[in-house]
Amino acid sequence: MIRRRDLLLAMPAGLAASALPRDLALAQAAAPAPAAGPRLPAGFTLGASTSSYQIEGAVNEDGRGASIWDTFSHTPGRIKDGSNGDVACDHYHRFAEDVELMAQAGFGGYRFSIAWPRVQPDGTGAPNVPGLDFYDRLVDRLLARGVKPFACLYHWDLPQALQDKGGWTNRDIVGCFTDYAQLTLARLGDRVPRWAMLNEPSVHAIFGHAFGNHAPGMTGWKNYLAAQHHMNLAQGSAIRAVRASHPRLGLGTVFSLQPVLPATDKPQDAQAAVRFDAAWNGNNLDPLFHGRYPQISAGDFAPVIRDGDLDLIKVPVDFLGVNYYGRAHVIDDPNGVIAGAGWGPHPPGTRTTAMGWPIEPHGLVEVLARLRDDYGNPQTFITENGAAYDDPAPKAGTVNDPARVAFIREHLLACQQAIAEGCALKGYYVWSLLDNFEWAEGYSRRFGIIHVDFATLQRTPKASFAYLAAVARGEPTGGIVTGP
Ligand code: FCB
Repeated sequence: MIRRRDLLLAMPAGLAASALPRDLALAQAAAPAPAAGPRLPAGFTLGASTSSYQIEGAVNEDGRGASIWDTFSHTPGRIKDGSNGDVACDHYHRFAEDVELMAQAGFGGYRFSIAWPRVQPDGTGAPNVPGLDFYDRLVDRLLARGVKPFACLYHWDLPQALQDKGGWTNRDIVGCFTDYAQLTLARLGDRVPRWAMLNEPSVHAIFGHAFGNHAPGMTGWKNYLAAQHHMNLAQGSAIRAVRASHPRLGLGTVFSLQPVLPATDKPQDAQAAVRFDAAWNGNNLDPLFHGRYPQISAGDFAPVIRDGDLDLIKVPVDFLGVNYYGRAHVIDDPNGVIAGAGWGPHPPGTRTTAMGWPIEPHGLVEVLARLRDDYGNPQTFITENGAAYDDPAPKAGTVNDPARVAFIREHLLACQQAIAEGCALKGYYVWSLLDNFEWAEGYSRRFGIIHVDFATLQRTPKASFAYLAAVARGEPTGGIVTGP
């Protein structure tokens, strides 16, 4: 366990206090310049994260079926730059090179997702063996290079054939997802030790089913409620089924979590924050850990809940994956799609990324403290954290991205702080390994620690890659080292 005092002594001299997480900035004023940083605990995993549709390409190869993101991205006007994931980073053919880069960085883990339409082209029935073969090759290569695979079964690329039957708004999908999970684990469960069921069900339910700016482009609160509830059910059902056949594997799921604060001191914004918090955080966390929906949403969900559902959803998890990007500052908005709430201004002076998202490392400590205090302190991994910036072009074999280095560094310090405060955090996977297809933003937003030239598909590691590699090697860089 890291002691708080070690953290305080670890702050490097010369860092602007304003750039630091709140608590650490206060501490720095009193701390002498350090000789070396604190240590992330032995066994803490550093790695990188990706998702299938965003990087794989090869959408028509080896029997893969169409996904909702193929349909959506090929619909004119849906993607900002008119692009799609047909080629993306061509990871399907270049995975060995990508694994090699991770091995060179010294990463202990890689979190990736499996494309359901590669495994079951139309979402049901016998597995498509060549599709599973791809993940088999990937997993074997990772293991051979000492990078532990961490697989996610669903990162938003639903088989289109299932969408044609209503997708996540049709309750039948619970059985389909459970079958898909079992088929996939039957092939890969002997080598992949850790499995997440879903990626960010709240984001998929909100953006894909209420806002409609993500696939499948459905709109309306009713669709949100059905999609969210059926994802909760599918997650519980699949964890139970897979645990019965693979009792030794680590099983969990991945949520996007963020502290939600009213953007002003108006009482109606405070109420809006409670509703928004339920939609973003509570409607995932409370059913899984407590077997109920937050009081404020229970009535909304009543029409889609059947007897026994909440018992099925509440299931022990071996870990929770947490995707953290920043806090939400919200306002009351009667036309707002998220429970009559919307995004308001960030607090004055808040730094932002190229997405316009606030940079708030201390929010990560707050999210983990909430899991510790209200949800039994589950074992957690930061399964996504990172930032888009308008990087310069590659030069002399690298890309200079100091803002991303600072972003990652500040969030690793927040991880250390959370661990020092008793949170059961076990690893950090940066989003993302590669610049990739950023959903509705297309290729206009670069989150990678490795630059991808989308014309030639050439990879160029950025300075942030070198930084994380130094952290992984245990070098006392920027106040952070790993190791015993
Ligand atoms: C998360 C998604 C991930 C990526 C990042 C920037 O919500 O899980 O695929 O788009 O945001």
